[in-house]
Amino acid sequence: MAHPMIAPSILSADFARLAEEAAAVAGSDWLHVDVMDAHFVPNLTLGLPVVQSLLKATDIPLDCHLMIENPGRWAPAYAEAGAYNVTIHAEATDDPIAVARDIRAAGAKAGLSVKPGTPIEPYLEILKEFDTLLVMSVEPGFGGQSFMAEVLGKARAVRKLVDSGELTLVVEIDGGINADTVEAAAEAGVDCFVAGSAVYGAADPAEAVRKLRAQAAS
Ligand code: DX5
Ligand code: ZN
Repeated sequence: MAHPMIAPSILSADFARLAEEAAAVAGSDWLHVDVMDAHFVPNLTLGLPVVQSLLKATDIPLDCHLMIENPGRWAPAYAEAGAYNVTIHAEATDDPIAVARDIRAAGAKAGLSVKPGTPIEPYLEILKEFDTLLVMSVEPGFGGQSFMAEVLGKARAVRKLVDSGELTLVVEIDGGINADTVEAAAEAGVDCFVAGSAVYGAADPAEAVRKLRAQAAS
């Protein structure tokens, strides 16, 4: 991968110091923001007011990963607020195309995410409505879990469609990305690597971002 992107996940940051934690990963391509509602996933994190404040605190494009039920109700507001990319879960809506169109109309890139057990084949036809495919490599809900290599087939399948010109899409992966797993994901054709604990658990988060990017490019 010539120009791998790294998206630190602030789920592993100190929520009381989000502006400083964003500054600590200056040079990152995207800042990944995990929105959880305690319904779609068994955890609760943050919502629109925090994203609105974060947008004022950093120039890094925000990559909002909505792990919420009824994403059509909320996703456009994240786009209107100024998020760069807004990703919804395929499992959370019966009408992903309508939500993607609303996100794009509100001015953001639209992403579709699939949980580890969700096959990609039923969604290949609708991926043209999206700008990003987020392949989950852990069960969504918590940081610090182990990477599930078995999801890489989904990244490979979509990479082929991108390389053949059938789709224009950023292939993103989320969960368990670290120095031991980033190369396998890169080899599968991933463009953008979300990393929470591997970045914010490091003594120097910006250096951790640079190292992951170099490893993904190797
Ligand atoms: C999990 C979140 C991830 C999480 C990744 O549901 O979507 O973005 O922060 O954390 P790590 O990199 O520690 O697996
Ligand atoms: Zn995430």
